[in-house]
This record gives sequence, C-alpha cells and structure tokens, in this order.
Amino acid sequence: MIDAHISGACSEAASAQGHVVRVLPVDEDIAVGPGESLMAAAQRSGYKWPTVCGGQGTCRTCYVELREGIDRCAPIGSLEQEGIQALKKPVDGWTRLACQLRISGDGVVVVKRGVRARKH
Ligand code: FES
Repeated sequence: MIDAHISGACSEAASAQGHVVRVLPVDEDIAVGPGESLMAAAQRSGYKWPTVCGGQGTCRTCYVELREGIDRCAPIGSLEQEGIQALKKPVDGWTRLACQLRISGDGVVVVKRGVRARKH
C-alpha cells in the first residue's frame, strides 16, 4: 500500500501539489500536479523517462502497465487509444501512455522499466 511509504508531512505536501504515483521497479514516488501528465511530472522532478517523441503521444515508448489505481486515472483519449492499439495491447485501462496519463487520486502504482531516478 503506497500510503504506508508516505509520511504525514510528505503526504500533505503531495496533496497540495497533486497526487502521488509509485513507479516500479525503481520504487520511487512521483507527485503529479493537477492536469500534468505522469511523464511530465517525472521529468520535472528530475527523472529520466523513456521517450522518443518527447511527450507528443506518437512514439508509445513511454507506456506503463498499471498495477493499482485504475479508478484514479483520467479516461483514455483518442490519441492515447490509438497508441495503445498500436502496441497491440487491449484498451482496457491497464496499459497507458505516461505522456498522456493524468491522475485524479493517490495510490496509483505503475510499472515502467527504464525510469532512472534522479541523483540524490
Ligand atoms: S512519450 Fe512518445 S508517446 Fe508518450
């Protein structure tokens, strides 16, 4: 459970800034701001996220597999739907493009290999 990893102060700060997403296997929490995509939030926070198109929704390199929190993700738009179909994945909400993915609540967990944490 993601909340077990968040201190009270950190959780309050994350709510003010948006919602926290846990990224596996790097095992990092990323605060995603209102209206911000997961990939943009990660980059803003100093993480390296696999991309070719830079967030235009055309390369599909950024895709993630959801593990938890499908009900706290914004609906899939037409551009994202095209990308998921091109990946030959079902458009069922469990595969998402991180550059298009908006978050509406805490506790979303995604798997994305190739994400590199910032240097602390
Ligand atoms: S970064 Fe290219 S489709 Fe998301």
